[in-house]
Amino acid sequence: MQITFSALELASGGAMVLLVEKEKGLAGVAAEADAATNGALTKAMKTSRFTGASGQKLEVVAPSGLAAERVLLMGVNKLSELSSQDVVELGAGAVAALAMTGSETATIVAEGVDEVALAEGALLRSYRFDKYRTKEPKAKKPTLASVVVATSSANAASSFDERKSVIEGVFLTRDLVSEPGNTLHPESFAERIEELRADGLEVEILGEAEMAKLGMGALLAVGQGSDKESKLAIMRWNGGTKDDQPLAFVGKGVTFDTGGISLKPGEGMEQMKWDMGGAGTVVGLMKALAGRKAKANVVGIVGLVENMPSGNAQRPGDVITSMSGQTIEVLNTDAEGRLVLADAIWYCQDRFKPKFIIDLATLTGAMIISLGHEHAGIFTDSDDLAEALSKAGYATGDKVWRMPLHKNYDKLIDCAVADMKNIGGRGAGSITAAQFLKRYTNDVPWCHIDIAGTVWSDKDLPLSEKGGTGYGVRLLDKFVADNHEG
Ligand code: BES
Ligand code: MN
Ligand code: ZN
Repeated sequence: MQITFSALELASGGAMVLLVEKEKGLAGVAAEADAATNGALTKAMKTSRFTGASGQKLEVVAPSGLAAERVLLMGVNKLSELSSQDVVELGAGAVAALAMTGSETATIVAEGVDEVALAEGALLRSYRFDKYRTKEPKAKKPTLASVVVATSSANAASSFDERKSVIEGVFLTRDLVSEPGNTLHPESFAERIEELRADGLEVEILGEAEMAKLGMGALLAVGQGSDKESKLAIMRWNGGTKDDQPLAFVGKGVTFDTGGISLKPGEGMEQMKWDMGGAGTVVGLMKALAGRKAKANVVGIVGLVENMPSGNAQRPGDVITSMSGQTIEVLNTDAEGRLVLADAIWYCQDRFKPKFIIDLATLTGAMIISLGHEHAGIFTDSDDLAEALSKAGYATGDKVWRMPLHKNYDKLIDCAVADMKNIGGRGAGSITAAQFLKRYTNDVPWCHIDIAGTVWSDKDLPLSEKGGTGYGVRLLDKFVADNHEG
């Protein structure tokens, strides 16, 4: 989707989007448009119970007196009370409403709102993953190809450039999450990451031999049943001052999770193509930070493995040794994400001595039971990290909710055979998983984000169609920008 900015005026052709307040009704450009149509907009509002309340939409097709093909009125209640995220969602809502109408361009009139936020929402909502739909009839494809944001502000386009870089990161995450397991596996995922050198990132890829040398017995055990080679990808963005300690983000990249020998039930297993969502978010974030030349040193590390049952797969009861030296009794091969992260997190702190580590993972089904699809769960001992992430979450719509850590939960993964087992009891599944990870942080400030409920959506959302959401990229980009630059 092409997004441009132009001067405030009555649109020529295409669709025209007008924001309407409840108290003021049609004002500014909207009043001009109403006059041009001889009051047709006012009449349409009256006859359809459109009051300007927030969330209301009214489409007036082919209004006489205007060049526009259609006018979309969007209720906002009160402009001065809209948060920046509300405005992003308005831009997105306009695109969602107009995508299939037949109009190819839309002009959104940005009076009294942040035009860059409108543009951001419009672009975010235009994403579609349709590369494998070869027979979709033209009539079912979106027609809307460009959006003009009408504004009197002169520097809108240049301030949008930075936002656009972040959205490119979101789109990369959505692309990766949407890709099926046969095309996105550890080897092809690593190749996609290598392409990011063109964005200015330093990229290193470790293969199985290198990881074996480092003693990454936990990560390697997960991938040992797969025909694909497990990989660890390290991305670095050096936008800060030379000796500044880096920020670190670590992602779970299980490109397909069958459960392994502890095989998952067949129904719904296809969802486990997005079990690499944590890695997808870290990769999208790194692209976003590089794209907007963030003033921070940042390391992104993703563990890429495929969890398959085979004659070579790990067995329940196996005891493995992680890079940290701690041993793990694998009681369930389906609790594999924490094994991958254990080595990736340990490696991260050992090599980079970061200020903090934030890991992202589709770690537990229990997370969806706890928080559904609205908030991701965060687990941290740092009140500072929790507060900063929570703020960035509400500011971007990628919301987080703090969950507990406590030594009493930690006891639930103690084990008679090894240093720990990889599952707790029936209860508190997301928390015992987090307690497991904590044992690999070596006391570096750390926050775990369980994104099992937010990576994918089975229904359309304000900012994305059903499918990969790109959750976490805007959250962490904002978190970095507000707390760790300059
Ligand atoms: N990738 C899954 C978690 C998951 C399940 C994410 C459903 C999103 C939707 C993870 O590897 C897993 O299988 N976890 C198990 C842990 C259990 C065996 C302790 C789970 O949640 O059932
Ligand atoms: Mn699993
Ligand atoms: Zn998994």
